[in-house]
Amino acid sequence: MAIPDTISTDEERQYFEVTDRIQLKPGWLQGEGQPLPHMEPYLWRWAEVEPLVLKSGELVTPDRDVERRTLRLATPGLDRGTTHTITAALQLLLPGENAPAHRHTPTAIRWVLKGTGAYTTVEGDKCYMEPGDLVLTPSWTWHDHNNEGDEPMIWLDGLDVPLVRYLRANFYEAYPEDQQPIVGVAESERKFASGSLRPAWEDTSVPYSPLWHYKWDKTYEALQRLAEVDASPFDDVAMEFSDPVTGGPVLRTMTCWVQMIRPGIATRAHRQTSCAVYQVYQGEGYSVIDGQRFDWREGDFFVVPPWVWHEHANDTGDEAVLFSIQDIPVLKDMALYREEPYEENAGHQPVTGRFKG
Ligand SMILES: [Fe+2]
Ligand SMILES: [Fe+2]
Repeated sequence: MAIPDTISTDEERQYFEVTDRIQLKPGWLQGEGQPLPHMEPYLWRWAEVEPLVLKSGELVTPDRDVERRTLRLATPGLDRGTTHTITAALQLLLPGENAPAHRHTPTAIRWVLKGTGAYTTVEGDKCYMEPGDLVLTPSWTWHDHNNEGDEPMIWLDGLDVPLVRYLRANFYEAYPEDQQPIVGVAESERKFASGSLRPAWEDTSVPYSPLWHYKWDKTYEALQRLAEVDASPFDDVAMEFSDPVTGGPVLRTMTCWVQMIRPGIATRAHRQTSCAVYQVYQGEGYSVIDGQRFDWREGDFFVVPPWVWHEHANDTGDEAVLFSIQDIPVLKDMALYREEPYEENAGHQPVTGRFKG
């Protein structure tokens, strides 16, 4: 039993000893407890990441040595996850390989970075993956990945594992075979990707989007169309992938965004109780996070911790496109979402340093 140094009298000490014996803690004597791990903003460069992802293909093989061949974006200060709620990792699947079928209560998203010819089967629906596609494997849905093409496939996995683990709700089940039976090809997409129209008879009362494959061409077209008419001062041309039934986020624990930062735009800074993991899908520019400038270019990843000032800028002549996974739905559903604009200096933070990595 450690006696708190807030105790100053014998009477308090005696009181503390008695309460401690029967697992009671006097709040006024307790002290601060363990501080939360400090999460720092960080940036990973594609030029450094990609060779290591490819090299992992020589070291381990899915199904034979490991369930999945993944490389986690490990934010300084955290011993797991990429943020306190989200884990993001690069996954490599080589031609002919299979990442066996399983399901788990943590929800996952796949954001496709490189390659074609691989597919993810979600609940029997075969979804061919191409760069810029978003594929969802919601909580407790069967999924396996297979590469029947002739090039390596790399995608970004985003999972709510740290949150689910914290809630002690992590369950896992392996499918008896490596691959689940195929029921259809692009069924969810053909049923639900038209947005404002959907099958009239279908039961859509699942707690996640019934559309689990968002194709890049449609995403990019939507960005272009929005750019013609409107933009956010904090995020420029930002769109949330949405559940076609509810209009809300695609998942309960995570939301996915795609945003275009147009040439010459510097957004205003704000901070939010949510956090985000970004991937630079196209172009280059920089973000100022907590006063530090992070220069990014195509393929890079960066993380924005909760409640730190952040703003994005594109000082080039070409558009930049950012993809992100954010935990906004959790904060909003628990009435804990808070957002604040940076008011000074026309909404821009003073830059006090530059991220070197
Ligand atoms: Fe999985
Ligand atoms: Fe933001």
